[in-house]
Amino acid sequence: MSFPKGKFVTFEGGEGVGKSTQAKILAQRLFEEGRKVFVAREPGGDEIGEKIRELLKSSKKIDPICELLLLFVARRDNFIKIISPRINDGYFVICDRFYDSTLVYQGLLKGVSIEDIMKLKRIAIGDFEPDLTLVLDVEAEVSKRRATERSLICDEYDKMSLQKHEIVREGFRKIADIFSFRSALINASGTERAVASRIWKALEKRLDV
Ligand code: TMP
Repeated sequence: MSFPKGKFVTFEGGEGVGKSTQAKILAQRLFEEGRKVFVAREPGGDEIGEKIRELLKSSKKIDPICELLLLFVARRDNFIKIISPRINDGYFVICDRFYDSTLVYQGLLKGVSIEDIMKLKRIAIGDFEPDLTLVLDVEAEVSKRRATERSLICDEYDKMSLQKHEIVREGFRKIADIFSFRSALINASGTERAVASRIWKALEKRLDV
C-alpha cells in the first residue's frame, strides 16, 4: 500500500490539556499503520525556531508585537525547513500548536489585532492550512491545576489566573467552531486511552485514514 500525499494535523488547546502526550500516541499509531510520521512543535522547528522558543520561554517581559513577530519568524522557519518538505515527501506531520495558538494567546488574550495576525500568517505561510486541527478541550480549572503542577518549563502561561484560562479555553472552542471545516473539538477529559480513541475516531471521519 502506498500513501503518496502527506497530511498536516495540528493539536491545539490550553495549558495542560494533553496535546504533547496525545501527539505522541497518535504518531505511534500512525507509524504502526505503516505511515511515515513526524512530530513537530511550535514555537520550534529548526535551529532558528528552537532558539526563538528558548528566547520566548525565558523572556520575563516581552512586548506582544515583538512576541508576535518572533512567533511568525519561528513559524516560517518551521514551515519551510521542516513541515512543508515532509508533507511533500508523503509524511503525516503532526504539530503541537500552530497559528490558531497565536489567534488565541496573542489575539484574544493579549489584544493583538486578529487582522494583523492574519496578515502575518499570509506573509509567513500563505494559504497553507492544516488538514485537521484537533482542539483538545478540558475545563479551565483542570487546565490551571495541570499547568501549575507541571514543572518542566515554568513560563508566564503556567501562572495564569483561572479567568485567563477561561479566555483561552473559550478562544479555542471558538476556533473549532469558526474553522469547523478543518477542526474537531475533542473532549480531553478522562484517561489518555479514552482521549486517544476519540482522536482516532476524528481522524477516521475527517481524513479517511
Ligand atoms: P508549550 O509548547 O509548552 O505549550 O508552550 C508553548 C507556549 O507558547 C504556550 O504557553 C502557548 C504559547 N504560544 C503562544 O503564545 N503563541 C503561539 O503562537 C504559540 C505557538 C504558542
